[in-house]
Amino acid sequence: MMKPSTACSLAVATALTLMSGVVEATVVTTCKAAAGSDGRVDYDFCVAELGKHHDSPSADTWGLAKVAALTGVVNAENAVYDIKDLLAKHGTDGEARAALGQCQELYDGMGFAFAEAHDDINSRDYAEGTEKAGEAAALAHRCDDAFAKAGIPVTSPVTQYSDYSVQIAAEAAAKEKQVNYKFCVSELGKHHLSPGADTWGLAKIAANMGVNNAYGAINDIEGLQAKPGTDARTKVALGQCHDLYDGMKFAFAGAYDEINARNYTAGKEEAAKAVSQAHQCDDDFMKAGIMSPLSQRSSYSVQIAIVCTAITNLIK
Ligand SMILES: *[C@@H]1O[C@H](CO)[C@@H](O)[C@H](O)[C@H]1NC(C)=O
Repeated sequence: MMKPSTACSLAVATALTLMSGVVEATVVTTCKAAAGSDGRVDYDFCVAELGKHHDSPSADTWGLAKVAALTGVVNAENAVYDIKDLLAKHGTDGEARAALGQCQELYDGMGFAFAEAHDDINSRDYAEGTEKAGEAAALAHRCDDAFAKAGIPVTSPVTQYSDYSVQIAAEAAAKEKQVNYKFCVSELGKHHLSPGADTWGLAKIAANMGVNNAYGAINDIEGLQAKPGTDARTKVALGQCHDLYDGMKFAFAGAYDEINARNYTAGKEEAAKAVSQAHQCDDDFMKAGIMSPLSQRSSYSVQIAIVCTAITNLIK
């Protein structure tokens, strides 16, 4: 089996390749996986296309979406090959054969759906592209169902072709320009609970990661406060930020609880509080004329709050 290629874009949908194991999503891995699994994918083109237009998220998303769709085609083709291999194996019983036969058709259809999604995205018809990617995803889920009904354990190689976290990160990135899809996929992919989580679960995972980051920031702050030679102005700003990140822990934890209770409006309000707290800490340093030593913590907080919000908006 291939390694997870994980593309974050609208199409990705299930492209999903996804093997077991943790998804590490970067342009490079996406392109490597795409190129490695099919000679038609030009690795250099892929990286160049995805890495282009750093200041233009929509252009970036466009390129990534196309590669993701292409990856989806390739993965569907690979799934068909895997199925043919399984069918050729001795000892595959009747029920399993029937499920595999069904899945072969489903993955054939999935390849077409991704190819159409690619063309739609290429002509910037995102609505149609997203729909086609969604169709592809649905086909993958039907295959999963066929296996489940046949009582084939989840370890079925074909089941692994659908990874919801990537799909959702993709949709979130497609819908909300503010979402940094690379960040989104790589962060969600890191979490051990992501594989198998639904949209609701992923929104909670994002909130949880916000809590963890706030704890990390507090730890950083306390380290800096204890460091000899930290000047007085920096100490004042650090003290202010300590309070802010303390509050942010509760904001993200509150977002988690509200989303868990399915009170999405309240959950998003909590995530917005976290964003504002991160900005306030930046401001404290700016006003003191000091470069913030917490800028990475801050941008992480903002980004994970945006991801959490965007995913919450996708919950049906
Ligand atoms: C959602 O949470 C807010 C704030 O805590 C609360 O005012 C509101 O009543 C809650 N809504 C529901 C439907 O529980």
